[in-house]
Amino acid sequence: MADDMHSGNGAAALLAGMQKDLEKGLLPLRVFNDRAIYDHELRHIFARSWVFIGHETELPNPGDYALRYIGEDPFIFIRDSAGVIRVLFNACRHRGVQICRTSMGNAKEFTCPYHGWSYSNDGKLTGVPARRQGYRQLNLEEWSLYSAPHVKNYHGLIFANLDPNAVSFEQHIGRYAWYLDTQFLLSDGGMEVIGEPHRWVVDANWKQGAENFCGDSSHTQMAHRSAMEAGVVGTAAAGAPGKSGLHVHDCDGHAISTRLAAPGSTVFWEYPEEVTRHFKPGRLSEAQFDFARRGVVHDGTVFPNFSYLHLGVTDSAEKSAAGFLTMRVWQPRGPGKTEIWNWFLVPKEAPAAYKQRAYEVGMSSFSPSGSFEQDDVAIWPSIARSARTVFAEMNDIKLNYQMGLDEMSDTEPLTDWPGPGVAEASNAGEGGLRTFHHTWLRQMTKRG
Ligand code: FES
Ligand SMILES: [Fe+2]
Repeated sequence: MADDMHSGNGAAALLAGMQKDLEKGLLPLRVFNDRAIYDHELRHIFARSWVFIGHETELPNPGDYALRYIGEDPFIFIRDSAGVIRVLFNACRHRGVQICRTSMGNAKEFTCPYHGWSYSNDGKLTGVPARRQGYRQLNLEEWSLYSAPHVKNYHGLIFANLDPNAVSFEQHIGRYAWYLDTQFLLSDGGMEVIGEPHRWVVDANWKQGAENFCGDSSHTQMAHRSAMEAGVVGTAAAGAPGKSGLHVHDCDGHAISTRLAAPGSTVFWEYPEEVTRHFKPGRLSEAQFDFARRGVVHDGTVFPNFSYLHLGVTDSAEKSAAGFLTMRVWQPRGPGKTEIWNWFLVPKEAPAAYKQRAYEVGMSSFSPSGSFEQDDVAIWPSIARSARTVFAEMNDIKLNYQMGLDEMSDTEPLTDWPGPGVAEASNAGEGGLRTFHHTWLRQMTKRG
């Protein structure tokens, strides 16, 4: 009944009034748990965006595969026998049965459990039972698995786009590449995934995590207070309100938040010398390299649902902080349900003992059992609950995203900032979150 009430209003009416509200920093609460909005997102956001699939180091050998999703649609992320990375639709061409049923593995071919059609790991149909008796005219070449029409390997990050008319990945990422590159191109070997991704389900909308990683710095002091008090991260990394942080928003649809040490300092998210000695400007400009060198914390979201966070933490007062990168996918599982996917990465050249240490501190902070993680996922579901109320609908409740907007603050954009986007040296702003929702609205209302 309540479902009908919500979806009965449809997505269109809600979206129509949103642009004006968003310019004033207002967002309807309903977008965080609404069936009609969600169904529209699956078609207009996920089926038309460059969606993160996985990292190439997850598939080191020919035949390695992992199950992944675009929106709710299942795909096989696989390195075929020739070494080519592919994103194949996980549905048999005979009756649509899912041919790959394990989350990770290695296979030369997949045999469908229903009638036994088999496919090689590049998606080609190779065998059909009773072919001579029943399929004499069947041309196997016409019955390969479907695959994502566009796949891009960007410094090891694999993205796919289901829209045949998609803009190029370079166009999608735009000038934001300046920041993304500082996270993935520091050493010649690039970043490497440690272990399998963790997954856990939260009763919250997928946009919650995505917007949070666009620079919700002001929640840290409150939601993560206990982790601060336990000394898990330094106060600089925590980002006290005021002038200690830096946000970049309106960067071709994406945003970051960062904390930088004073000019001339070397922090590199607290990687030790045995790791940082492999860092060099190489493919980065001097300005990008300097930005990375001063990095205390860096987080960002590549629209729509891929986020990352680079920082150093410790799990013991006796041990110094260790740097690592966590990558996130906010995997939609319904209007009020998200599966969080989490990978840890370190530079490929790091010694094995350091990789182990980075994994441990990652687990202790940003994982299903991590101190920071518990804080956020205890809070986010209550937003989905509020969004689902009849009262919110009756009153057309709007949320406040006005922090730092125009006259709300006297922080001015930096005029000498070397990177792209609008940079503000303050933690007291929600510009990155507004950028996220502007991009979302643009895509939700795009025709065609
Ligand atoms: S559904 Fe796959 S072989 Fe029939
Ligand atoms: Fe958080």
